Amino acid sequence: MLEIKNVVKKFGDFTAVNNVSFNIKKGEIFGLLGPNGAGKTTILNLILGVLDQTSGQIYVNGMDNRKKGKEIKQIISLMTQETIVESDLTAKENLMLFAKLYHLNNDIIEERIKNALKEAELTEFANKRAGTFSGGMQRRLELVKTLIHEPKLIILDEPTTGLDIQNRVKMWDHIKSLARLGITVLLTTQYLEEADALCDRIAIIDHGNIIAMGTSSELKALAGGYILDIIAKEQYIKQIAEIIKKHMKAEVNIAADKITANVTKEPLEVIGIISKVLQDSKIPVMSFGVHLPTIDDIFLKLTGKQTRDTTGEMKTKFVKRF
Ligand SMILES: Nc1ncnc2c1ncn2[C@@H]1O[C@H](COP(=O)(O)OP(=O)(O)OP(=O)(O)O)[C@@H](O)[C@H]1O
Ligand SMILES: [Mg+2]
Repeated sequence: MLEIKNVVKKFGDFTAVNNVSFNIKKGEIFGLLGPNGAGKTTILNLILGVLDQTSGQIYVNGMDNRKKGKEIKQIISLMTQETIVESDLTAKENLMLFAKLYHLNNDIIEERIKNALKEAELTEFANKRAGTFSGGMQRRLELVKTLIHEPKLIILDEPTTGLDIQNRVKMWDHIKSLARLGITVLLTTQYLEEADALCDRIAIIDHGNIIAMGTSSELKALAGGYILDIIAKEQYIKQIAEIIKKHMKAEVNIAADKITANVTKEPLEVIGIISKVLQDSKIPVMSFGVHLPTIDDIFLKLTGKQTRDTTGEMKTKFVKRF
């Protein structure tokens, strides 16, 4: 459905996307996971033809994005990072407006809107102004709006950033149901648990580079062994790091008051050895654990950074009139 080959995007001297390649099969949910500024939105804008790649090729359903932009727009849809709803219009009017923009026939519009409202669980709010909706309701309206012309490929730019966990899980269910209908989904996220819960395959991106790609289990297997993590007051962190290095022969990652290390010994052995040394040295800790690697651990191992070093507040933008 989508083929990205050696794509580079430069803004002046700055390389925002550096030789990125990946393919997405029909019906797959593919996630681009990366922190702020990684290049996620830029990649989406290249696919959508909003930006031109500096070099490399992009094919959507076999069509070259540089030659078949118009045809591609018919089968692709984007849910932007910022929610854009017409605050003065009702939910139904918002959908109607979008349906008209896609020149849908009048005889199918009513049915599509009815189904869209039902899918978004907004039927009873159909005639209420969208400006009065909660963030989660607006995001669901936005999602069904982008589906109104029945695209084959849907692109979701951080679909749940800023939503509470309840609305996030609801959005995940909607996205999964799209894939069951055979729609291909490309989404970006800063949340590892979102990539883990939703995506068939994940590409981890940082500074414009894809640094790892695979299924969630393939990525977790990259780390091997177990992750030891300890939280303690900052004054003790250096000492604890030395203890782990000495007794586990492992590299450590330090983030303010937290230490993580990829260890190869069995969890109980790790806990036994390290807790004894910490007790003997009278070093207090606030949290101590050993667990299987998560995608966050892989990200940290590959980049030395947490995926969420900054949390993106969802910005809701009201567009007054087209
Ligand atoms: N039009 C532009 N001109 C110059 N630099 C740009 C432009 N668009 C993006 N960039 C830069 O390219 C990099 C990637 O930006 P991008 O918006 O793709 O990141 P992102 O992964 O979507 O981040 P976020 O999670 O914050 O949305 C950033 O350093 C950004 O400042
Ligand atoms: Mg972005």
